[in-house]
Amino acid sequence: MTQSRWSGTKDLTPAQRREGLVERTGLDAADLTALDPADGLSVDAADVLIENVIGVMGVPVGLATNVIVDGEGVLVPMATEEPSVVAAASNAARWAHGAGGFHTSSTGPVMQAQIQVVDVADPQAAKSRILERRDELIAAANEVDPILVKLGGGCLDIEPRLVDTAAGVHVVVHLVVDVRDAMGANAVNSMAERTSDLIAEIAGGTARLRILTNLADRRLVRARAVFPADALGGPEVVDRMLEAAAFAEADPYRAATHNKGIMNGISAVVLATGNDTRAVESGCHAYASTTGRYTSLSHFEKNADGDLEVTLEVPMPVGLVGGATRSNPVAQANVKIIGAESADRLARVITAVGLAQNAAAVRALATEGIQRGHMTLHARTVAVAAGAQGDEVTEVAARMVAQGTVRSDAAEEALAILRSERA
Ligand code: MEV
Repeated sequence: MTQSRWSGTKDLTPAQRREGLVERTGLDAADLTALDPADGLSVDAADVLIENVIGVMGVPVGLATNVIVDGEGVLVPMATEEPSVVAAASNAARWAHGAGGFHTSSTGPVMQAQIQVVDVADPQAAKSRILERRDELIAAANEVDPILVKLGGGCLDIEPRLVDTAAGVHVVVHLVVDVRDAMGANAVNSMAERTSDLIAEIAGGTARLRILTNLADRRLVRARAVFPADALGGPEVVDRMLEAAAFAEADPYRAATHNKGIMNGISAVVLATGNDTRAVESGCHAYASTTGRYTSLSHFEKNADGDLEVTLEVPMPVGLVGGATRSNPVAQANVKIIGAESADRLARVITAVGLAQNAAAVRALATEGIQRGHMTLHARTVAVAAGAQGDEVTEVAARMVAQGTVRSDAAEEALAILRSERA
C-alpha cells in the first residue's frame, strides 16, 4: 500500500522525490522514466495522436502528497503550470489526513449520447413509439460494441425527451450507456450514429446531431472530508471558511472563482492521466448550473464536533482505456503512480484532489490571502525570466519576497546586485 504521508518534499530535488516515490509505491524506477522529457511523448508518437504535429509541449508534473482516498494512501501526479497548486493540495490533504482523508462514492461509469430528431409531426406520440421499441433500440445500440457488452457494460436504456427550441419541438433521444473503464465518448458516439436512422424512422422525422452530452450527470463522484478545526488554525478559521463558502453558494461571480479553485486540482490530475480536461471542465460547470443558477460545486458545514466538513459532487468522465491515456507514456506512468486499476478509482482520486484544492484555497482566502504563498513560488519564475541561473534563482526570489516586490524590474535589480556581490 502506498505511504502517502510525506513531509519535506519541497526541500528535495526531483531525483530525490522520484527515489522516495519508488520507495513509497513499490514502483520500479523504470516506470518513471517516461517523466523525463527525452523519454516521454516523442514527436512520432504525438503525430499519431493529433493532426499537423510540429512538436510536444512540456507541462510540469508535481506530486500531491498526504492523500488518502477511501482508506488507501495515494500519491497523485498533477500536471499544471500554476505555482502553489500542488503544495496547496498536499497541505489540505495533510489537514484531513488525521481524520481519515477523503471518503467517496460514485454512480458508476454511465454516459449519455443525444440524438436530435427534427421535423416530427407528432412529438408526443413519437416519444411513445420510441419507448414501445425500447428493447429493440437497446439491442441495436449494443450490436455496435460487443466487447463493451462482454465486459459488463453497454447500452442500459433509451430515454426520449421533447425539447422546445426556437426551431420547433425536437425529439431528443438519450442513449444511456455503461462505458466501464473508458471515458466513453467513442462508444456512445458510435452507438448514436448507428441507431439514429432507426430512431428517426420510428419518430417519423430526420436525425441531425448525434453526440454525447458532456453534462455527465449519471457519472457522478462524491467526495467528503473532515478538516479538524485545530488542523485549520482553530474555530475562527472554520467560521471564516463557512462564510467564504456561503458567499460562493450565493453569488455566481464568486462561485466561478471558487469552482476554478476546485478545477485547479481536478484538471491537473485529468491532464496528468491523459484524460480530456475540456470534457470534465464543461461537465462540472454545467452541473454547477443545473438548478438554473450557477453556484458552488462544494458545500462546507460545521459538524457536531465543530470541525469543517466539506463535500463535493461532480461529473467525472475519465477513462483508463482508449483516448490518450494508453498512447501517451507520460500518462501511463502517472496512472501507475496513482495505482488506479479502474476508471472509477481514478475518478474518485481526482474528485478528492479537487476537494483538497478547494479547501486549501478557501482557507488561504479566508485568512492571510493567497498572494504570500503564491508570490514565493511566482518569484522563482520571475527570477528565471530575468536571467537568474542555478542558485541565483532561490536567492533572487528570496530577496524580492523579502522586499515585497515581485516584478521583472525588481528581479533584474536583485540579480545585478547579487552578481556584483559575488564578483
Ligand atoms: C486561483 O487559481 C484559484 C483561487 O482563485 C480559487 C478561489 O478563489 O477559491 C484561489
